[in-house]
Amino acid sequence: MKTLLTQHQLDEGVSRLASEISHYYRGQPLAIVGVLTGSIVFLADLIRRLNRSLRLGLVQASSYRGAATSPGELVIHTGLLPELKGQHLLLVDDIYDTGLTLDGVIRQLIPHGPLSVRSVVLLRKHGRKIAAIEPDHVGFEIPNEFVVGYGLDYRGAYRNLPYVASLEAAELSDTPELMPDSSLRGST
Ligand code: IMP
Ligand code: MG
Repeated sequence: MKTLLTQHQLDEGVSRLASEISHYYRGQPLAIVGVLTGSIVFLADLIRRLNRSLRLGLVQASSYRGAATSPGELVIHTGLLPELKGQHLLLVDDIYDTGLTLDGVIRQLIPHGPLSVRSVVLLRKHGRKIAAIEPDHVGFEIPNEFVVGYGLDYRGAYRNLPYVASLEAAELSDTPELMPDSSLRGST
């Protein structure tokens, strides 16, 4: 495992994003919605640097890979959403990889009637984009490597690392018994 972003770098990046976001939404009603589970560490640090009033909520995006569903089909659980009518919506996610999660979440939240929808991601991975949508605020551009820590997991582990590290090919195993939730559903 190799450290990609130290705690100090993350701290600076999150402060920079918080300042961009504060300026952008100055004086406007703002609802911030994190995409579970990967966004929670970033979300918690980001909102504590926003010195303003805001509503907070969460959505869970699960991609189903079973035989009955098309690959990447996304199911969004919206039970923890705040009221979005009359609010500008800022979505928070850990990483923009193909962009399909963010694209799916945005499509499903637009009918909730926010004044606008934008997004912030901590990381954007190079060379993987499929979706048309781009994140509006990006913390760090990273190479096409599998990363963990600061909320990001590998098969449920490493989310609590206080830094971001990339896993080497040898550390990425396909052994089925190491995949507790490999059956149908993968939470992002
Ligand atoms: P996307 O839909 O392909 O943009 O990726 C969405 C989700 O895949 C992210 O929110 C993460 O949960 C997960 N993901 C993508 N790349 C990585 C990675 O390098 N490490 C851990 N999770 C990742
Ligand atoms: Mg995620």
